[in-house]
Amino acid sequence: MTRHLLGLADLGREGLVRLLDASDRWLETRGAPAAARPLAGKTIALVFEKASTRTRVSLEVAVAELGGHPLVLTSSGSQMARGEPVADTARVLGRMAHAITFRTGGEDRLLDMARWSGVPVLNALTDRSHPMQLLADLMTIRRIRGRLEGLRYVWIGDGNNMAWSWIEAAGLLGLELVLACPEGYEPDARAVELARERGGRVEVVRDPERAVTGADVVSTDVFTSMGQEGEAAARLAAFEGFRVTSRLVARASADAVVLHCLPAHRGEEIDADVLEGPRSAVWDQAEARLHTAKAALVWALGVDG
Ligand code: CP
Ligand code: NVA
Repeated sequence: MTRHLLGLADLGREGLVRLLDASDRWLETRGAPAAARPLAGKTIALVFEKASTRTRVSLEVAVAELGGHPLVLTSSGSQMARGEPVADTARVLGRMAHAITFRTGGEDRLLDMARWSGVPVLNALTDRSHPMQLLADLMTIRRIRGRLEGLRYVWIGDGNNMAWSWIEAAGLLGLELVLACPEGYEPDARAVELARERGGRVEVVRDPERAVTGADVVSTDVFTSMGQEGEAAARLAAFEGFRVTSRLVARASADAVVLHCLPAHRGEEIDADVLEGPRSAVWDQAEARLHTAKAALVWALGVDG
């Protein structure tokens, strides 16, 4: 059966933990002379309908280091921006590439890619979720704190695609996750409900100060995601008081880890002194995109032995 990574739930709890273990191994063996090249002879199509730095670079380097060929396709450099249906693009890519990573907007486009291509499809960000980033976030926490369980995870800001994937992770792993979001910008209620049913202790609150008190992990993201640029002014007003400042982080536990998937807007959702400060793990988090990308590709292609 074709293995897709459309959301974290596709991995299941055990699969997620195994994937994080594999990511650690990829980090530890990077550059070794006899490093495995499990994608030798395989072409991976990396399809982007939105801008990207980390996702594109991590995937392109991951495929190359695993011995495969990364084929980058952007919407403007292909027929996608001229209206060719995803189902048609998918069938063509599926005849030539061995897997596809896809960054797009609507979930329907991601699902069409998976449905029509016949090869593994990995979600490289949609308006709804960003599971590959969460793999990196979890890897980063686990390496710093030695575990994922028993920590208080706090999300400050928009109930966006990153929040969705944090909620999914909380459900899968049974984590305590508190999200502080302004009115009208809460995460999807069904996602929260599902995570609770799976065993996650997920709470949505209004007050960032209350949320962050005793936090072990403080995460945030841009207030205006890609595709929402027209709402930027309204969002800036709505998110007043939701910036991650050193005063806010002082309420977290003494060894709290600050995460941001990047790109960051200093002075908007996070202050520069926090992003560059001693609690910030954002550069390890960015690097973890490479190691987790390798593990995710190897899992999806079933070349993990
Ligand atoms: N965090 C992340 O996905 O970054 P890019 O948009 O640069 O890929
Ligand atoms: N929420 C952001 C994440 C960027 C990596 C966006 O969708 O633009």
